[in-house]
Order: sequence, then structure tokens, then C-alpha cells
Amino acid sequence: MLELSSIKLYYRTQRGIVKAVDNVSFKMNDGETLGLVGESGCGKSSTALAMMRLLPRNVELYEGDILLNGTNLMNLEEEDFRRQIRWQRMAVVFQGAMNSLNPVLKVGFQVAEPLIIHKNIDKKEALKQVKELFYLVGLPPEFTERYPHELSGGMKQRVIISMALVLNPDILILDEPTSALDVSIQAQIMNLLKRLKKERDISMLFITHDIALVSDLCEKIGVMYAGQIVELGPIENVLLNPRHPYTQKLIASVPLLREERTPEFIPGAPPDLVNPFQGCRFFPRCSQGKDEFEEREPPLIEVEKNHFVKCWLYSDVK
Ligand SMILES: Nc1ncnc2c1ncn2[C@@H]1O[C@H](COP(=O)(O)OP(=O)(O)OP(=O)(O)O)[C@@H](O)[C@H]1O
Ligand SMILES: [Mg+2]
Repeated sequence: MLELSSIKLYYRTQRGIVKAVDNVSFKMNDGETLGLVGESGCGKSSTALAMMRLLPRNVELYEGDILLNGTNLMNLEEEDFRRQIRWQRMAVVFQGAMNSLNPVLKVGFQVAEPLIIHKNIDKKEALKQVKELFYLVGLPPEFTERYPHELSGGMKQRVIISMALVLNPDILILDEPTSALDVSIQAQIMNLLKRLKKERDISMLFITHDIALVSDLCEKIGVMYAGQIVELGPIENVLLNPRHPYTQKLIASVPLLREERTPEFIPGAPPDLVNPFQGCRFFPRCSQGKDEFEEREPPLIEVEKNHFVKCWLYSDVK
């Protein structure tokens, strides 16, 4: 249903060109939830921006194909994309959005605004719809009358989620929706997302650095490293049998309460996205790399059905 192929998003900076998203491809079927994980700065938020075509001014390169039910969104004029796709078919809960609510407007109105402006629905009817939405996301309907400062963090996040849902999109991108919340509130938001998935048949791209949250919500997982997807597959296959040395390290770095094992950390420095390593990008930090992996970038190899790994260890064509 949604297919990204070879998406690139590069930024211009004083240091040079940052290759934040560099050939990212993945598919999301209807109603499916894909978790996107990877360490800070690997290009997760940039992937979300590329999907929503919300690009900063310093974009150097933006290309690739985004197919939504067979239509290539990259061919749409900005005006059409804005009117038909952004927020209507595909919506995003931005990283840190909780803190961007307008402090002087009641939250109900802030959620209702797109209905009033884009859909020409009158204010009273729009607020009625928002009350229903508040009910759906677990907020008392009368909270539409509150100002942001009258809400807790978890409640604000529910408001932000209802904002993304207000035009009834098929695809919801959630960029670190729980990272600013304490664990008990985080669990409540995760339960809300699970419920939304069931009740609303909505596809989700769930972005997080917390691999444990992905296993709770998603059917599929994509692991990003240095602007690229290095492993992609069904959640059980990837978590129980991770193939990419980076995924293996990432999983081993999760602290476990009941196990003796000490969490590992990933050696070496985070990758430089201005001058990424020319062969396998993980090569400088990889303990399994062989000299011949240094020169050429590995392809994405299907190691078992629907499970892909970008690593020379799994190729016969070294
Ligand atoms: N507007 C911009 N201009 C220049 N560089 C940028 C811009 N936005 C992001 N970057 C850089 O692009 C890279 C990818 O950033 P991005 O925010 O997509 O990563 P991320 O995986 O979401 O990280 P985090 O987990 O910290 O949110 C980083 O090196 C970041 O510094
Ligand atoms: Mg981010």
C-alpha cells in the first residue's frame, strides 16, 4: 500500500552535505505497523520528513519514489500534495511536538482548526468531532476547553495524537511519541496506540530508539544505521535472530532487569553522515568485518522470506 523506494534526503551545511537519508526503501501494507529504530542522528526523523514532504530550507537533494496505492507521490505538485496527502492520508506526530501546542488557545480549538479551515466545517460541529476524537484517545471530552498548561505531559501527547488523527489519515507516523514521558505514562500511550491500531485499521510508522517498544507494537522492524536501512523484516525474525552485526549489538545493548548479562555498548564513534564510510558504513565499528568488506557497499540481501540484511556476511558474491 505504501512503498518507499530509494529515498534520499541530503542537507547542505557548512561542514558539507549531510546524507541524512540515503537510499531508504521499505513497504508498509494496509494496517501494518513498522518500527524504525537506530541510534541518534541515523536519519529516522529525516525519513519522516521526507515522507511528509516537509523539508527544511537547506535541502540539497530530495529524490526517490513514494508509492501510495500505486500513485507516485513524488510526481504530485506541492499544492496537490498539500490538499490530498499531507495530514489527510498521511499524518505525523513530530518528535517533541507536545511542547509546541499554542499556549494561548484552548486545545479543542487547536485540534479542530484543520476541520474548520480545510473542511469548511463550522466551529460547533468541528468541536463535536474533536470531542469524539478525545474520547477515542482517552481524554475526557470536556478537556477541549482546557489550555495546554492545564494538561499533564501524557494528556498533551494524547492531544497531539488526536491532532494527527483529525482528518482521518490511513498512515500515521509517530516520531518518538513517548520519549519525553515517564514509564507509566509511556505504557498508557503505547496501549492507546495498540488500541488505535485495532479499532482504526491505521498503518503506523513508529520511530523510536527503544527497541523494546517496537516489539510491543509492531509487526515489522527496520533498523537504520548512518542514513540507511541495514536490516528489515518481521519482528520475531529480526529480534530473535538478528543478522546484521549492528542489530546484534543494538539488541545486546538493551539492559535486562532479570538477567545476569551486562548490557554491551557499541564500540567506536557514531558515523559521520558528511563523509560516510565508502564500503559498508558499519565497517569501522564491526567486529565481524573482513578486509574485503571495506571497499564496496553491500546490497540488501534477503536472508529468509521478507527478512533483508545489508551486510556482506550474507552474500556469496563478495
Ligand atoms: N535541517 C538540517 N540541516 C542539517 N542537518 C540536519 C538537519 N536535520 C537533521 N540533520 C542531521 O541529519 C542527520 C539525521 O538527523 P535526524 O534528525 O533525521 O536523526 P534521528 O535518527 O531522528 O535522530 P534522533 O534519534 O536524535 O532524533 C543528523 O546528522 C542531523 O544532525
Ligand atoms: Mg529524530
